[in-house]
Amino acid sequence: MNDLEPVDALDIELRVNGSAVRRRVPVRRLLSDLLRDDLSLTGTHVGCEHGVCGACTVLLDGQPIRSCLQLAVTADGCEVTTVEGITPADGSLSPLQAAFRDAHGLQCGFCTPGFLMTLVAADPAEHPTDGSIDALLSGNLCRCTGYQNIRTAVRRAWGRDDEGNASAGSDTPLGSGTSSGSGAS
Ligand code: FES
Ligand code: FES
Repeated sequence: MNDLEPVDALDIELRVNGSAVRRRVPVRRLLSDLLRDDLSLTGTHVGCEHGVCGACTVLLDGQPIRSCLQLAVTADGCEVTTVEGITPADGSLSPLQAAFRDAHGLQCGFCTPGFLMTLVAADPAEHPTDGSIDALLSGNLCRCTGYQNIRTAVRRAWGRDDEGNASAGSDTPLGSGTSSGSGAS
C-alpha cells in the first residue's frame, strides 16, 4: 500500500471492562459508537454528541473522558471502563449506584451513567465540600433531578451525613475504585 493512500480503517486492540477486544474500526468511528453499537454496551448514553452533557462519560486508562468526542482508534492499547464495568457481576448495585437509588439521585436515569463514571474516578478526599462536589459534577448535566439528590447520593456514598459532614463510624469512602464486570467481548 502506498503510504499516501487514505486509510479507511485500522485494527485496534484494547481492553473493555477487563476483557480483550480486537476490532477493525473505521478511522472516523467514535468510541461511543464502538461501545454501544459494536460491543452492545448501551449503558454509555449519548445525549448531545458534542461534549456538553457528559452522558457518554467513560474511563480511558482510569480518566473520565467524553466518548462522543473520542475516536475509537485512539483507544488502541488502552483500558476502557464503562458503567457495566463498575456494576457487580451478580446483578447487584455498587455502593455508589445504591446511594443514587436510595437518595433518589435519578429520575429518568439518562444522565446517571455519566455521573457514576465521573464519580468513580474521583478521590473523595479532593472534594471535601459540597462546592467541590458541585464543581466535580459541573460537566454532567441532568434535566430531571435538580442536582440536590445527586449531591445527597454522593455525600452518602462518600460516608458523609446529609449536611456533608463525615458520618460517625463511617470512614470508608465508597465512591472510588472500579471493578471489572461483564459486557464486553
Ligand atoms: S453525548 Fe458526549 S458529552 Fe453529551
Ligand atoms: S435523571 Fe433524567 S436527565 Fe438526569
